[in-house]
Amino acid sequence: MAQSLHHPSPDPALAGWPRVLTDLPGPRSRELLARRDAVSQGPLRDSANIPLVLGSKSGHLLTDVDGNVFADHVSAWGAAPYGAQPPLVRDAVTSAWDRYGMEISQYISSAPVIELAERLVALAPAGITRVAPTVTGTEAVEGAVKLAREATGRPIILGFLGQYHGESTYLTATSSTDLPDNTSGYAQYVPGVILVPYPQSFRAPFHRGPGPYDDTMVLDYLREWVLRYQVEPDQIAGVLIEPVAGEAGILAPSQAFWDGLVAMCDEFGWMLILDEVQTCMGRCGTVFAAERWGLEPDLLLVGKGVTGGGQAVAGVLGTERVMADSHAHLGGTYAWEPAACAGALAGLDLLADDTVLANVHELEAIALEELLPLVDEIPLVGDVRAVGAWTCVEMVAAPGAVTPAPDLQHALHLAALRRGVLAISEPSKPLYRMQPALTMEPELFRWSCRQVADAAREVVAAP
Ligand SMILES: Cc1ncc(COP(=O)(O)O)c(C=O)c1O
Repeated sequence: MAQSLHHPSPDPALAGWPRVLTDLPGPRSRELLARRDAVSQGPLRDSANIPLVLGSKSGHLLTDVDGNVFADHVSAWGAAPYGAQPPLVRDAVTSAWDRYGMEISQYISSAPVIELAERLVALAPAGITRVAPTVTGTEAVEGAVKLAREATGRPIILGFLGQYHGESTYLTATSSTDLPDNTSGYAQYVPGVILVPYPQSFRAPFHRGPGPYDDTMVLDYLREWVLRYQVEPDQIAGVLIEPVAGEAGILAPSQAFWDGLVAMCDEFGWMLILDEVQTCMGRCGTVFAAERWGLEPDLLLVGKGVTGGGQAVAGVLGTERVMADSHAHLGGTYAWEPAACAGALAGLDLLADDTVLANVHELEAIALEELLPLVDEIPLVGDVRAVGAWTCVEMVAAPGAVTPAPDLQHALHLAALRRGVLAISEPSKPLYRMQPALTMEPELFRWSCRQVADAAREVVAAP
């Protein structure tokens, strides 16, 4: 790893290896969680899934307030791609803040803001020439929807079931990972969105049993059913899609799917809108996931990893045609604050070091080596997938079935947690997901995978 990626631990308690010393939650966490639950809105009271309160983080380790140390496979949901406090990012953020303070960059610009836009355009797939700033990924997606409608004069966005694009009331209608979000009264059925299934490789639409299968069937359905009976192609402004589905389960569509989708975009004048909020900046082993298939989107959305782990930054990247003469207003008071941009620039410097992407490839290889054999070994492990520094294990209800097993998945998550591996598992999503920093040490990652494998053996032995 390059010099700048080392994380001298500020806390001696963190210097070692994961270790869990108390029941979970431990006594201090229990007390704080009770206080949190007394004042928090419903979904934030999730002690069953995350039975701990953060005490501190350093490098790729997370310590709870009871002194338990975990390998961090959440990495702030991908927003801390270089570990907890990468020194280069910290220095860039603090010195930019010392120099510029808080500023509203869409009114008063500054060098870090301009340089970040230039660097993103230079890194982006061919055809991208412009950038619009936002604070969150949600706003970036909302902005792209505006831009696609403005550029085409058409009203409808074609989305994919099971995708996640954010939490605004509009986007919950295109973000279908959590069914209650789409149906619980507060989520109105908004006009202007048509959804077709995401091209799944395991729990496939139009197919019984586990994959792999021909995911271009989704395009047949789109052409032969949706465009025939539901919407005329010239009413569709753009296709909004994650190049690798994250929340739905680390799913990477086939080259044939992308070729077919791009051909339809060309045929019907649809904007290709790639939501790379979660996949950008190395998560999938390339700077943008679009590179895997040679995609040249009209609009490309960035977030999370682009922060470098500093402060909130997201944005819309787009072509000259879509963005140069646009009147659509994006951003807001906090969009691309100078210190946040300076941190993002430092993150891009780290990513420019080849060792980061090389490490991501090594993590992918380790995940497949350590966890893929579980599919043959344990009949209730339905599938294991890894794309870059993104790994998931799917537990199933019966051997050979694809029906999710949420209780077993939850048990796996807790058993791994007791062994010192903190990853992502949510009751509404059929996957146990490891999403470490891109820079996690291969030894720590391999150890973590072995803990997860042992946890899977434990929970199937005594479900
Ligand atoms: C693919 C994708 N799009 C959009 C978003 C929303 O980003 P944010 O949470 O920054 O609003 C997320 C967040 O997880 C995401 O994964």
